[in-house]
Amino acid sequence: MSQIAIVGTGYVGLSTGACLAHLGHTVACLDVDAAKVAMLQKGMVPIVEAGLDELVSEGLSIGRLSFTTDAATALANADVVFLCLPTPQGDDGSADLSYVLAAAEQVRELLKSGAVVVNKSTVPVGTADVVRKVLNRDDVEVVSNPEFLRQGTAVQDFLHPTRVVIGGDNEAAVGKVAELYEGVDAPILKMKTASAEALKYAANAFLATKLTFINAMADICEAVGADIFDVSTGIGLDPRIGADMLRAGPGWGGSCFPKDTRALVNIAANNGYDFALLRGVIETNDQHYARIAQRVLEECGDSVEGVVVAAWGLTFKANTDDLRDSPAIKILTMLHNAGAVIRAYDPTAKKQYDHYPWIEVCETPLSACEGASVLAVLTEWSEFTHVDPLVIAQAMKHPRVIDARNHLDRELWQDHGFVYRGVGR
Ligand SMILES: NC(=O)c1ccc[n+]([C@@H]2O[C@H](COP(=O)([O-])OP(=O)(O)OC[C@H]3O[C@@H](n4cnc5c(N)ncnc54)[C@H](O)[C@@H]3O)[C@@H](O)[C@H]2O)c1
Repeated sequence: MSQIAIVGTGYVGLSTGACLAHLGHTVACLDVDAAKVAMLQKGMVPIVEAGLDELVSEGLSIGRLSFTTDAATALANADVVFLCLPTPQGDDGSADLSYVLAAAEQVRELLKSGAVVVNKSTVPVGTADVVRKVLNRDDVEVVSNPEFLRQGTAVQDFLHPTRVVIGGDNEAAVGKVAELYEGVDAPILKMKTASAEALKYAANAFLATKLTFINAMADICEAVGADIFDVSTGIGLDPRIGADMLRAGPGWGGSCFPKDTRALVNIAANNGYDFALLRGVIETNDQHYARIAQRVLEECGDSVEGVVVAAWGLTFKANTDDLRDSPAIKILTMLHNAGAVIRAYDPTAKKQYDHYPWIEVCETPLSACEGASVLAVLTEWSEFTHVDPLVIAQAMKHPRVIDARNHLDRELWQDHGFVYRGVGR
């Protein structure tokens, strides 16, 4: 079993650290956010992620998991050091590597001889070499190990991944990282560093493309009187297509797809390839948000000036508290700019909506609907399917629902007098 340091204890770093401790390793998690570290030291998990609280408690109680803001403490005995740092979108669309490189600088002197630095952040091809230069240590290896976990099912995905990808030129270092995953039943793909780095962007760009395709088909289905449910089911049974990521919705967003698709367009351009397909995917997705907002406008007679719009769901998808690039926020911003009064309910904590003071965050799905002229379902939280449409109809000014996730029982809501509009149906 290895001694591991995790640098960056966010969605990926915390899930990775807690899962590796669960697998038997001793893990020290480092973060610059002192408030976050203080919470974690008490066993309080600052993010919504199924199963993570249990793993953090387990790791703390058996002494295999620790949290610190002190780099020297975290790095003291580490054989393997994971960089799990943000790689946000830079001004030109490229991945901003400043967090990764600052962290590499910070750990350079603290790494023990023979340590392996593992890059888990999503980074452009060539970043491992840049990190190697910053570290400037002949006795330390750099390996790429991109992460494919999905927020909301991060623990499950980490412990039961579809594959583990390890890129590196040094066999011993790659082997050391592969050993960490002993006990995880998944193929381990070892490859060149550049392939591992490229593969992660390819995966996200492909999934985003698939979603954009089905959203575009949904629009076409509406126009021709077809039902996207039937179309998705029918094409998804073809194993060459596959059933996942074929659910029409409000457009994709979140912490990865928007920045990673743009970064890949940028990587391609820098290498002389105009990735027109992916540029089209991004543009079509942006237009899709606008089309959902347009539906709300249409239901309100083409103007939402002073109209109360109720929104269910603000996070970028269900089962996470993450608002980064949330489609819900983008759509509601358009409606707010058009003069709507936004009342929203989301099951995750209220405090993080401070960035959006124009959203009146409500305590329950019902209170968000009081006096509303239209309800927009923007995140597929399961609790919305248990709400009684009769009670909602009584609270609203007009019983109208735009179900951007095709999440509610259409017939049930129509039976209760609702004008119901889904996506692609
Ligand atoms: N979120 C996902 O679902 C997901 C999935 C796969 C890959 N990724 C990639 O993983 C990387 C991390 O993503 P995330 O969502 O976990 O980010 P995050 O913002 O949740 O976490 C990053 C953490 O790093 C900390 N940090 C910043 N600078 C630091 C430093 N110098 N030293 C120590 N800690 C520092 C921050 O305080 C934060 O807690 C990104 O490259 C992302 O693209 C994310």
